[in-house]
Formats: sequence, structure tokens, C-alpha cells
Amino acid sequence: MDKSVGKPLNRVDGRLKVTGAAKYAAEFPQEGLVYAVIVGSTIPSGTITKVDASAAEKAPGVLAVLSPEKPPKLAGDPAKRQSPLEPMVHLLQNRRVDYQGQPVAVVVADTFERATHAAALVKVQYQAEKPKLGLKAQKAQAYAPKHIIFRPPDTEHGKASAETPAAEVDAMYGTPFEHHNPMEPHATTAVWEGERLTVYDATQGVFGVRSRLAQLFGLPPENVRCIAKFVGGGFGGKGSGWGHTILAAMAAKAVSKPVKLVLRRDQMFAGVGYRPETEQRVQLKARKDGKLLLVRHETLTSTSTFDEFTEPAGFTSRMMYASEQIITSHRLVRTTMPTPTFMRAPGESPGMFALESALDELAYKLNMDPVQLRIVNHADTDPESGRPWSSKSLKECYRAGAEKFGWSKRNPMPGSMKDGRTLIGWGMATATYPTMRQKGAAKASLLPDGTVAVAVGTQDIGTGTYTVMSQVAADELGLPVQKVRFDLGDTQMPEAPVSGGSWTSATVAPAVKRVAAALRDKIIATAVADAGSPLKGADPKQVKVENGDLIAGSKKESFAALMKRQKLPSIDAQADAQPGDEMKKYAMHAFGAQFAEVRVDPDLGQVRVSRFVGAFGVGRVLNEKTARSQLQGGIIMGLGMALMEESVVDERTGHFVTKDLADYHVPVNPDVPDIDVIFVPENDPYVNELGIKGIGEIGITGVAPAIANAVYHATGKRLRTLPLTLDKLL
Ligand code: MOS
Repeated sequence: MDKSVGKPLNRVDGRLKVTGAAKYAAEFPQEGLVYAVIVGSTIPSGTITKVDASAAEKAPGVLAVLSPEKPPKLAGDPAKRQSPLEPMVHLLQNRRVDYQGQPVAVVVADTFERATHAAALVKVQYQAEKPKLGLKAQKAQAYAPKHIIFRPPDTEHGKASAETPAAEVDAMYGTPFEHHNPMEPHATTAVWEGERLTVYDATQGVFGVRSRLAQLFGLPPENVRCIAKFVGGGFGGKGSGWGHTILAAMAAKAVSKPVKLVLRRDQMFAGVGYRPETEQRVQLKARKDGKLLLVRHETLTSTSTFDEFTEPAGFTSRMMYASEQIITSHRLVRTTMPTPTFMRAPGESPGMFALESALDELAYKLNMDPVQLRIVNHADTDPESGRPWSSKSLKECYRAGAEKFGWSKRNPMPGSMKDGRTLIGWGMATATYPTMRQKGAAKASLLPDGTVAVAVGTQDIGTGTYTVMSQVAADELGLPVQKVRFDLGDTQMPEAPVSGGSWTSATVAPAVKRVAAALRDKIIATAVADAGSPLKGADPKQVKVENGDLIAGSKKESFAALMKRQKLPSIDAQADAQPGDEMKKYAMHAFGAQFAEVRVDPDLGQVRVSRFVGAFGVGRVLNEKTARSQLQGGIIMGLGMALMEESVVDERTGHFVTKDLADYHVPVNPDVPDIDVIFVPENDPYVNELGIKGIGEIGITGVAPAIANAVYHATGKRLRTLPLTLDKLL
């Protein structure tokens, strides 16, 4: 029987999704369900002096208005978090206002429309304070964070070179505020049964939500259940336990009914994170042959007044290229804004825009091909840790990508390539993302009909987890994929981490492989000990599994026949898998090379991406189709980052004025060209048992600079701030 891992199988949940049968967090009907709507603050900073809910309370259908006038009781202290990665949230416990749109009341009513109407009747009075806004305006107060996800904000490697550089770039790059705009908004359905709480939540991490709720409601974790069967996109914005989930549970408790709370699109621009703006200085010095003498990358970015998140834009500059000296720093300013959070390749995406744009500028100064410049500076070992790479196929990515794109036909002179009046530009950039892994556990059961059920409390955020894990289990058990049912998204299943950091496959697949192997061994042991089995007495090591059969030489029995005779409800196995010490021995990253063609209208300055090629070395690919979709999705999001995405802030009020998809633009079908994804074969024996590197984030990382470099090639204009809108080209 052919193995299924690697094959371009259709999604096992595809039919559920296209028929609407897949159930998202807001789609679990409940007896007596009522609706909660958040009232957001209209000032950015200050104190609530009065919440007048009298009109709202009298409105038809209203069951309760929660507000700081009578703070709903919580058993746990919201200020005490269990992990520094848990965001600080505002839960109506006091009168402080820290950002525009912060929840200041929650209205519960019998219908969504009545709750929405009543929310508009809540009158909140404030004593406003002057907000601190603007990266530039607050620059004098910039400080170095103590650490950034446990890594130092500043680093310095190597020594200053005494050589006079042949070329130098020293430039400032800027990236704007950006917001996650998954199709499915954040949503929670909260149901209490006595002292037990169940939430259906649009989350990338069911266990994180469970532990936050357990802490705040003073419950043992086993009394809290979080379910996320389908998630309509996350990108990091659904990675943390945000306030609305807790508010939904508080509201359900207050009215003793199940409550549904769905954020409106405009509410997703406050209180559930965003990518903060950055101002980055990149300085490069190089010899005549292109060898780097210095990479300096200084990042200034913003966080909130009440919490800290640092966009680590300089991290990739520490490991990307071999240079005599590498210096990075990160500085933060506190602004009267909600707290930023992880957004697809946090750090890498804005950081690579700056670094890879600067490399392109350097290539022009050296009169050198930009691919060649990168090859000259290829880091054979990790410049930051000094460790060897577990594997690295970057040179092959440059080669394969350039060949597919036709890079050798490029005339490097800006403005030299045209189609009629349309300017054509070709640009490229490197892509990278670290390979990480956490602890994961799994359970598996052989059922009486000979099929196998596997379960892990992980998530499928649209990425294909259901499908690839079914494949991994099926191969190990010698079963066709249709005979495996992989289930996920429930804290009653074995624990797995948040689906972030591109680590879901690298974490969960080893646990699934192990549990499937353990189950297979149990099935074999059961058969060889069974007097009624044709395999009775066979050496377990000689028994093979294939297509749902146990086979030893000429003897054969199906899983189903064994189960029928055994009269067992199931045969069960549990297993877990976790990282070893490979991180101490190797530097582990996925790499890629990305090539863009743009067409620029010389009169209107409009930029269209007409072709895109990405070549990636990402270790073992579990499913060629879902992997391709995942990388294409990253590239499409990068196209949005390059050309469209920008959250505009009113610097008087801290108000995001772009609050819907009419103002905040993301790519739609006509914006997206043919995207060629090449998998460079890579066999990495060190990252994990399956050689998986993770593909969730690398796709976006080189896209914005590849497009910006192509725009320069087309027009001769170097745009150093994103997005590359037409006003900047005219
Ligand atoms: Mo990703 S930003 O780690 O969900």
C-alpha cells in the first residue's frame, strides 16, 4: 500500500467546509441562548465617571448591563497572569480607560439586534486625559525592553572591521500598523452548567483559553472546557486569551444563560492585537566583492501603556547573513493604544522588509546581482549561535527560484524593462522562519469496525491539521486515510500547544506517529495472543499492517475481524512527544527565495504583481496540496502587506480610522497573480522524527521586500515605507 504522507490529498474536512457543515465558534446552538454586545470607550485615556445604563436596561429584551458601576466579581486577579505571553485585558473591574475601544460595558439581550440597539443607549461619562501617541512624538521616551520572548533586545557579534568599505547603505525603513482580518471574527459561545464552564471559542489555542478562564473564575482546569472545531483564520490574532472570551463567560454567569458574543469587524481593530508600526535603521557595509563587513539593524516600535509586546524586527538580521560584525537593537515607546500582538511572522515580516530592501540597495551600489550578493554572504553556520544548521537549502532555493522565474534575463537597469508604456520590475528577497517545536500528546483507538479514531487537543486554523494528521496516523497503521478519523479542538483531548510559531505539524505529527505506532503494536499483540486468530503465536516483530489487515507470512486477518471476535469496544493507546536537546546542537530554520514581477502604470503609479515565484526548503512536506496552499496564502498576505495593508491612526485620539474591509484593504482574487511554489527537497534528520520544519509563516517573510525591490527596478524609485501605495510613486 502506498504511503499517503507527502501526497497532494484533498482536505478531509473540505466537504464540511464548502457545504457549510463545519461549525465555527458562533455556530453551536444552545437552549435559551442570549447575546452580548461590547460597548467600547470613546476616549483613549482617562477615567469613567459614570455609566448610565438606565435607558439600555429599559430597552426591550435586555437582561443585563455589566459595567464598572458594579464590577462583576471574578475569583482571580486579571493582573496576575500565568505567562508573560498572556495579554493584559480589561474586564470592567475598575474605571480606568487605557485605549480607544476598550470594553466599558457589556449589554446582554435576547437577540443580537436588541443587544446592539441597547448598547447604543448606554451613556458613559469620562474624565479624559491627554493620550500619548505617535512613534516619532514619543521617541525621546524610548526604552529597551528587558527581553523579547526571553531573548535579548540588543546583540552584538563580531568585531568592527578596519577595512574601508567599498559600498555602504544607511537608511530608515518604516512599516505601518496592520490588523489581522481573518474571515471569521473573534467569537465566543459561553455555557455554564453549575460550576462547569464550556466555551466554543474562535481561538488558535484551546488550552491557553482554558487556563485563563480557570484562573479568573477560580475553577480547576478540568471544570473548564474549550472547543474550537474550526477556526476561520487566525494569523496570531487568535493566539491569546483576549478579553471578549472572558467577558462572554462573565455575561453568561450574570444572566444564568448561555451567551454568544461576536466581535463586529470594527471591534477587531481594538483589544485583540495588531502588528505595531516600526521605524527601522539598517546600515550595511561591504567590500568590493560584496562580503558584508557590517549589518546594523535598529528597531523602534510601539507598545501600550499597560502591557508590553515588542515586534522583534531585528531577529532575522542576527542570523541571515555572514558578516564581520552584526549589531541589533530594539527600542519601545509606550503609547495610549491597545497592546500589539503576534501577526504572521512577527518580527520577520517587517524586519525582512528593511533588511532585504537594504541588501537590494547595496547590490545596486556594488553593481552586483542581488541573488549573487546573497550567495556571497551565505551564512554556512548560524552567525548568532555559531551552531551548524540542522539543514539549509537556501542556495538551492535561490537557484531553483531564479531558474523558474527566468531571473537570468533581467536587465538590472531601473526602468529598462517595459511592455508598451507599462514599466516592468523584477525583484527578489530571501525568506526565513525559525523551526520550533513544543510538547504534544495524542490518543488513538481502534474501533469495532476496523477504523481508527485519533485525537489531539490541537487546532486547524485553516492550515490542514485534520488532513495531515490523518495521513501520518494512516501510514503508521497501514490504513487508507479514509479509515482514520482525526479529531481536534477540545481540551478534553490530550494537550497540545497554541497553533502559532509555525509549530503545529512539528509538534503534533511526532505525537500522532508515536500513538499510531503504539496502537499498531497493541493490535498486533492482541492478535498474536488470540487463540481464534490466524496470527496466533506469530512473532509480533514479523507482523505487518497493510490496508487494514494484519499480515504474517501467508497468514492474514483484518482489524475488523479481530475486533469482532474480541468483542472489545476499542483498543486504545496514548503517547506524547517533545523536543530533545537538538536546539542546543543545531540552529534550525526554514529558508526560501522569493521572486516578484510587478507592472507599474507610469501615469497612475498603480502597482500590480503579475508573477510570483517562491522556492522553499521546509523539510518534509506532509501534504503537497495543503502545504502549497499554506505557502501561497503567506505570499498573498505578503502581497497585502506590500501594497495595501495599513491601519491609519488619528494621532489626536488614538482611534484607528480604518475599521472595516472597505478602508483596510486586503488582496482579493484580481490582485493575486499566478503563484509558483517550489519545494526544494530537504531531508532534515535533526528537527524532529518526521523532519518537519513548519510552513505557516515563512511564506510571507520575503514578499514585501521582493515586491519593493521590483518596484525600484521598474521605476527607479526606492520606497522605504510600506505599503507601496500609488501616492508614493507619483
Ligand atoms: Mo503565528 S503570528 O505565531 O500565529
